[in-house]
Amino acid sequence: MTSYHDASNVYGSTLEQSNNLRATIGGVLSANLATRPGNLPPEDTTIDACILDPTDPNDYCPLGGDHRISEVVFLGANHVTWLRMHNLIANELRSFGNGWSEERLFQETRKIIGALQQHITYDEYLPAMLNLNYRSAFCLTPSCQVYSSQINGAIKNSFSTAVLRMGHSQIPSAIGYVSPNHNSISNFPLRNHFNRPNLYIREGGTRVDDMQRYVTSQGAAATDRQLELEIADHLFTDGVLSFDLGALNIQRGRDHGHHNDIDLYAGALSETPVPGGELGPTFSCLFALQLRDLKVGDRFFWSRPDPVTGFTAGIT
Ligand code: HEM
Repeated sequence: MTSYHDASNVYGSTLEQSNNLRATIGGVLSANLATRPGNLPPEDTTIDACILDPTDPNDYCPLGGDHRISEVVFLGANHVTWLRMHNLIANELRSFGNGWSEERLFQETRKIIGALQQHITYDEYLPAMLNLNYRSAFCLTPSCQVYSSQINGAIKNSFSTAVLRMGHSQIPSAIGYVSPNHNSISNFPLRNHFNRPNLYIREGGTRVDDMQRYVTSQGAAATDRQLELEIADHLFTDGVLSFDLGALNIQRGRDHGHHNDIDLYAGALSETPVPGGELGPTFSCLFALQLRDLKVGDRFFWSRPDPVTGFTAGIT
């Protein structure tokens, strides 16, 4: 993944990866045509961390912009949703009949997808994580539109090895499907769906929507020092052995020198959340600082009204 918020999870982090993911026509991304109407990603024939369901002859391992696409099913379903969104927008742009080249259709669509991801992150996700004091102090609100070439948007060591791993505390114990009318819910324990994409690949990809309804309606676990047993005792289990994600995080922090009297990950996750926020003061500050650098240090940040890098005004 690139540091900057440029949708590299969708397009990969190198030109080669991006070219591998693109179809060569219409500015769209490659989809697995054999699975229509599901519109699923192409197959990854090289990945080893992917286990197929022996009862489904149509199961396969999907290719995404990030190699972790199959780590857990709801991450994979999210990849599929972005793929579909890209293709929807590219087709819409093409339908305007402006005679845009394949390259232009692709790049314009990619810019819109990157903007959507930044908009969701800064205007929907961050207000749920950080209170207004932190968002105002760190230029995270829509009213702050500063760019500085002096700010380095690289991911800080503490952010990847500790701060953003607070998300592991929010992982729920199950995944499932919610039907279109929200009348029926199925639950599956998470332990059976690490590195196994079948839950959304099956039935030609038509289950992706059911899974997204589940994720958006069932909520996350609380952000605290409790990790669900599914990831503490049953992560990547082969039925006998398994990993413990909390222990991995603490150990990784020690590899990176984040241990003094207290491990950064365990200590900061145990702090009482600040009023109106999900995190304690240490993680709130480090989180806000990284997200500020990713915004202020990004010349292409979507909402900045720059005549070269910004969006043009919409047609009303
Ligand atoms: C069921 C869902 C998830 C699983 C199974 C999972 C699993 C993992 C694993 C195995 C690692 C590597 C640990 C190590 O060896 O150090 C990792 C790293 C990480 N995870 Fe998760 N994770 C999940 C969800 C999340 C969420 C929701 C977030 C944040 C919101 C997150 C943020 C991170 C970050 C920032 C890293 C470090 C990445 C890096 O340094 O490149 N993860 N995760």
